[in-house]
Formats: sequence, C-alpha cells, structure tokens
Amino acid sequence: MYEIRPETHADEYEVEALYDLCFAPGRTALSSYRLRDGVPPVAGLCLLLRDPSGILLAAIRYWPVHVGGNAALLLGPIAVHPTAQGEGLGGMLMRDSLGRASDLGWSRVLLVGDAPYYSRFGFERLDHVQMPPPTNPDRVLGLELRPGAWVDVAGQVTRAASQDASAGLA
Ligand SMILES: CC(C)(COP(=O)(O)OP(=O)(O)OC[C@H]1O[C@@H](n2cnc3c(N)ncnc32)[C@H](O)[C@@H]1OP(=O)(O)O)[C@@H](O)C(=O)NCCC(=O)NCCS
Repeated sequence: MYEIRPETHADEYEVEALYDLCFAPGRTALSSYRLRDGVPPVAGLCLLLRDPSGILLAAIRYWPVHVGGNAALLLGPIAVHPTAQGEGLGGMLMRDSLGRASDLGWSRVLLVGDAPYYSRFGFERLDHVQMPPPTNPDRVLGLELRPGAWVDVAGQVTRAASQDASAGLA
C-alpha cells in the first residue's frame, strides 16, 4: 500500500522532472501556467506517492484561481510515472486530494483535461467559464465540492492573489 504525502520544497525538483517526463515538451507555455505564475500552489493539496524504495511514482498540484470574483481551485498538473500508469494511482491521488480540498473548505474545482478520464470523478464541462486562450472549451471541466457551487459562477478564470494559497509548500 502506498502512502500519500504532502509535497515539500525538497520534492520540487523530482516533481518537475516527473511532469517533464509525462507531458509534451513546452508544457509550461500552456495558458493554464499563466494562472500559476507568481502564485504558490495550495498548501496541503500538493501530494505525491513514492514506491517503497523512494522512487517518485505520482504527483498532483493545485492552484487558487478566481472565476468571476469567486474562489476556485485549479487542479493540475497530475501525472503518474509511465511505468506505473493504469494501476489506480492517479485515481487515488484524485480522490484523496479532492477529499482534502473539501475538508479545507474549498467549494469548486476546475481543470483543463480529458473528459473521458475526469468524468469518473464527477467532473463535467463548464459551459460559462473561460480559461485564457488558446484553450479548447470542451476541456474546461468543473466539480462541485459543495452542492450548487458552480451554479451562476461564470466568466474568465483569472490569477489569484499570491496569499490565496496560504503558505504554499511546506
Ligand atoms: C492521466 C493519468 C494521471 C492517469 O493516472 P493513472 O494512474 O494512469 O490512472 P488510473 O490507473 O487511476 O486509471 C486508469 C484508467 O484511466 C484511463 N485513462 C487514463 N488516461 C486517460 C485519458 N487521457 N483519457 C481517458 N481515459 C484515460 C485508462 O484508460 C484507465 O481506464 P480503465 O479504468 O477503464 O481501465 C496518467 O495516465 C498520466 O500521468 N498521464 C500522462 C500525463 C497526463 O496526461 N496527465 C493528465 C493531464 S489532463
């Protein structure tokens, strides 16, 4: 059984290397990264999984954003090492981190990703929410952690203030 642990500053280099391995080159040029520039990730929601020998297998991060003046979480990146994909680790990190987000009092989550994967966690297309261009609107997905949290929430996703993440990584 793997133990899910919060990411610390000491893990950052390895997590970045895992993301570089799992995503296409130039990932940080994506418009979603402009929402993360200069804003620390959310304390307590950046999590990772290592195998018993300490090799990093999976990681997830979240950032605070605003949508039409409402606070929201931007989920991602999430990545699982290619040798460990399809074993349920991504699902473990998704469910665990979303539970922690709810416990921390967050109401709504959005991400840019493949609906066929994220729908299993309850994510649905957000019709009235626009990520910075160029983003395929079909990939802008949301999840309510509190009933009705996305009702009447619409508009551009914008960068949060740096203090909205509280302390960032430990
Ligand atoms: C996407 C990712 C995080 C999923 O983690 P994982 O540990 O491999 O996933 P799980 O084992 O929890 O779930 C596997 C299931 O998800 C499905 N799945 C994985 N990626 C998918 C995708 N992009 N679209 C649709 N289904 C997908 C698998 O087919 C499998 O389906 P099954 O349960 O019906 O067999 C991982 O594959 C990964 O790191 N991919 C590369 C980076 C990436 O694309 N990150 C997400 C950005 S949107």
